[in-house]
Amino acid sequence: MTIEIRPADVEEILPLRKAVLRPMEPVVAAEYDGYPQVQHVGAFENGEVIGCATVFPSAYDGDAATWQLRGMAVEPQRQGTGIGGQVLAAAIDLARAAGASAVWANARTTALPFYASMGFEIVSEEFGYGPAELAHKRILLPLGT
Ligand SMILES: CC(C)(COP(=O)(O)OP(=O)(O)OC[C@H]1O[C@@H](n2cnc3c(N)ncnc32)[C@H](O)[C@@H]1OP(=O)(O)O)[C@@H](O)C(=O)NCCC(=O)NCCS
Repeated sequence: MTIEIRPADVEEILPLRKAVLRPMEPVVAAEYDGYPQVQHVGAFENGEVIGCATVFPSAYDGDAATWQLRGMAVEPQRQGTGIGGQVLAAAIDLARAAGASAVWANARTTALPFYASMGFEIVSEEFGYGPAELAHKRILLPLGT
C-alpha cells in the first residue's frame, strides 16, 4: 500500500470532506477555498483521496500570525491507521513554513484525543458549532517560532 501525502487542490479533497464531515449538507469549494494563502493537504492511495486537511492564516486571541485548521477528515475504513496524523503533520509543516506562530481549530470533542496525541491543547469550554451544533472545543498548538 503506497500512500502519498501532498499539497492538493480543493476539488481533489472536497468529496471526501463532504462524505466524512457533512454527509447531509451541501459542501461547496468556496467554503474552504476562499481564504487568502489557504493551503490544502491530501492523502492519496492509488490516486484515491483518503485523508485531507486545510490551513490558512486566521488571527487567534489577538495574534495575527496564527493559522487555523479546518476540514480534517480520514476515509472511515482508514481511520485509526495513522493517516490523519500524517496529514495533520503535513498541514502543520505548511503553516510553520509560512511563518505561523501557532495552529488552532474548532475541534469536535470526539476528535480531541487525536489532536491531543498531536500536541494540541484545549483552550476553551465546550460549545455548539456548525449547522448541526455539534459539541466542539477550541484547540491550539504553539509552534515555538
Ligand atoms: C479524527 C481523524 C481525522 C483522525 O485521523 P485518524 O487517521 O483516524 O488518526 P490516526 O490513526 O492518525 O491517529 C493519530 C493518533 O491519534 C490517536 N487517536 C485517533 N483517534 C483517537 C481516538 N478517537 N481516541 C484516542 N486516540 C485517538 C491515535 O491513537 C494516534 O495516536 P498515536 O500516534 O500516539 O498512536 C479521523 O478519525 C476522522 O476523520 N474522524 C471523523 C471526522 C472528524 O471527527 N474529523 C475531525 C473534526 S474536528
